[in-house]
Amino acid sequence: MSTLLRYDATNMFRLPITVRDRQQLDDAKKAVIDAWKNGDQGWLGCPDDSACVSRIKKLVKEKSGFTTCLVLGIGGSDLGARAVWHAMKDEARGMTLEFAGGNTDPDELAAILKRLNLKKTLINVISKSGNTVETMSAFFIVREALISAVGETKARQQIVATTDEESGILHDIVMKEGYATLPVPKNIGGRFSVLTDVGLFPLACAGINIAAMMRGAKEIRDEFVAETPTQNEAARYAALHVYGDRALHMPIHIMMPYSERLRLFAFWYRQIWAESLGKDGHGPTPIAALGATDQHSQLQLYQDGPKDKMISFIEVEHFKAKISIPRSVKKIPQLAYLSGMSLETIIHAERDATAHALAHEGRVNGTLHVGRVDETTLGAMFMFFEVATGIAGQLYGVNAYNQPGVEASKTVMRTILEGNVLS
Ligand code: PA5
Repeated sequence: MSTLLRYDATNMFRLPITVRDRQQLDDAKKAVIDAWKNGDQGWLGCPDDSACVSRIKKLVKEKSGFTTCLVLGIGGSDLGARAVWHAMKDEARGMTLEFAGGNTDPDELAAILKRLNLKKTLINVISKSGNTVETMSAFFIVREALISAVGETKARQQIVATTDEESGILHDIVMKEGYATLPVPKNIGGRFSVLTDVGLFPLACAGINIAAMMRGAKEIRDEFVAETPTQNEAARYAALHVYGDRALHMPIHIMMPYSERLRLFAFWYRQIWAESLGKDGHGPTPIAALGATDQHSQLQLYQDGPKDKMISFIEVEHFKAKISIPRSVKKIPQLAYLSGMSLETIIHAERDATAHALAHEGRVNGTLHVGRVDETTLGAMFMFFEVATGIAGQLYGVNAYNQPGVEASKTVMRTILEGNVLS
């Protein structure tokens, strides 16, 4: 069992594991490990890639002196870094991270460009394919603004491109312009790439301890390799959710961290779960929620609506800040019970009460316990859900690593933007 994470499935149903299910889980694990060992899928090997960490640290050193790093990317190319930045930004001591290219909203990009001092900004454009319209549109606009601000020669030194090493439009631009470049491994898809140069370079620019992220991920990966899949918590998470969806008709999978710092982690989870498992007319619908906030919004539906949901809470056991309610509140009889109480106590009680109330009504829920939010636990959480996704893909019988639906929409969009009529 991990020292970093603990998945409590007490409020989930008791999974009736037959010999056949055990065999299926064993086969799923074997397929995930085989795909790693034969080189088809590289994400399980990320924590061993010390060359990646050294390469990134060297480049960060070369590019020190900038105050901001503007990350241009979308989906798998930016959601991981966004999640970690949101969690760690108050402790980070490096460049400030800004993000664009995650949308084509002109107002958003204009506002970012307005507040940036481009002379002090490093641009990290990230696209595996190099032809993603959101990322590349933002890149061309930002590059032009940068050239106007600092001139062509300096602009070249202020751009780092993270892309395929051998081919693609961005790769060709890099070759022509001579930008610094970092690779996106061929055998790691966007949403599994947070622990590669894709996620780690901007985070290292921000001063985030990427080696600690790798250590956390390694602990979870090693555990997955060593344990039987019925013992392993990430594999169990997958098995419970696939069984709940298929056999008990609970296709809605909610991720609800009780921590503002983990708000965007739920968005990262939403992508990996949806884009990996939604295939061939089937698949779960993940929802990102936030505790305790959504107790006053979504919870009514979870508690009292259709019984088609499985809820995953994330409980952070130790918060960094210790804040308590002033003792003077004792004078207000209706709220006196809050006097002197720490917010940590309250948020824990809120998750506990919600889990309990849901379970009481037969609403299944599980809780991932995390000691504290830091680089090590974030790395561990990414690997936990990557493993769960890989196993769930096998159990659903889908290819978790492609995204034909996303590609189809990219093709249609291009047809429209090229001025063609849709047939
Ligand atoms: O997970 C995925 O494959 C996608 O979300 C991609 O990361 C996203 O579409 C961006 O693609 P690219 O990195 O090629 O620009």
